[in-house]
Amino acid sequence: MCAYTVLVLFCIVNVGNKWTRSLETQPNSGSQIEETALPNTERRVREVDEDSSEFGVVDGRKKTTCPCGMANKDAGRIINGTETQESEYPFMVSIRKPNGRHNCGGSILTPYHILTAAHCVSDEWKKTTPIPQNEIPVVGVHETNKNGTYGQTQFMKVVQIFVPKEWYSRPTRHTHLAGDIAILLLDRQIRFSKWVSPICLTPDFPSITNGFIKAMGWGQTEQTTSSHGLREALVQVLDQSSCNNDPKEVCFKNGPTGTCFGDSGGPYVYVDPETNRYTQVSIVSYVYDKCKGKHFVGTNLTYWYDWVQNVVQSTSKGFQICRKAD
Ligand SMILES: *[C@@H]1O[C@H](CO)[C@@H](O)[C@H](O)[C@H]1NC(C)=O
Ligand SMILES: *[C@@H]1O[C@H](CO)[C@@H](O)[C@H](O)[C@H]1NC(C)=O
Ligand SMILES: *[C@@H]1O[C@H](CO)[C@@H](O)[C@H](O)[C@H]1NC(C)=O
Repeated sequence: MCAYTVLVLFCIVNVGNKWTRSLETQPNSGSQIEETALPNTERRVREVDEDSSEFGVVDGRKKTTCPCGMANKDAGRIINGTETQESEYPFMVSIRKPNGRHNCGGSILTPYHILTAAHCVSDEWKKTTPIPQNEIPVVGVHETNKNGTYGQTQFMKVVQIFVPKEWYSRPTRHTHLAGDIAILLLDRQIRFSKWVSPICLTPDFPSITNGFIKAMGWGQTEQTTSSHGLREALVQVLDQSSCNNDPKEVCFKNGPTGTCFGDSGGPYVYVDPETNRYTQVSIVSYVYDKCKGKHFVGTNLTYWYDWVQNVVQSTSKGFQICRKAD
């Protein structure tokens, strides 16, 4: 049996790098897709086989209930590796420790709520009670050790942390990461702008099985002291039956777009073709065998949609999560 690792690193990104970027910069180049030998069924997710420069930018056929899932893709797109443009994904959050160290990823749900993984705020074996003042969400950030160049960086204060009761059930080898989801409630509103805005959620799990979606994060960079920007990678969604067969989880194939990516707590997003907005479907949770295993596992956000909505509604001061309008 493989060991679990909960902090996911950007350890091997070179394959994914080139691939992600070449797809985005050469939208009509079929050769990139042929190279990875994707069957037709794997092309359904638009991110892979079309120009992605409009994703999250141009309005889709359907509206969303509030502005969400937007991207900034106007300038300087081609950056080495998987590094994104500054504030390309305005919903992304760096959750830091009081000493300033980046610890986990997260995503903005409303001006008062941030979504992350439970194991980011509570020990997965001891099931410790989360401590709000130990978590410092930073929004509008691109490089780990720098503030944004547009004045968009905001350091937030957490007043309460919500974790589902399933998280606290007696942990066994296979259940210690059950309910790996947490919501951080802030003391004041995040100031939204072009550079800082929420992600969209969906109550229905989309048909993305075998398709490629995006994961993003800064990774843990203990080995390197240099600051680097947010990185992204494409990951393939697997059928439940080929993985853990647990509806609370979503499984992703290890490779070919990078063996290891993102940070715990960060979002897995896809572009809803109807809204053309980035929509979060999963949260980075764990990998097997220090990234050498066959799968990555994320929390199935659809499974927890009602829980998320209940937490937000009971604490929102009038704000709601954003989703596709009917
Ligand atoms: C990409 O990386 C190479 C080698 O590290 C460097 O020479 C080049 O300037 C970089 N290009 C950009 C756009 O950052
Ligand atoms: C970034 O902004 C925060 C809050 O405004 C400030 O405390 C910190 O010193 C700034 N960091 C850098 C590297 O400029
Ligand atoms: C995620 O949860 C939803 C709702 O429970 C379920 O319909 C869907 O099949 C799940 N997806 C996966 C990949 O497990």
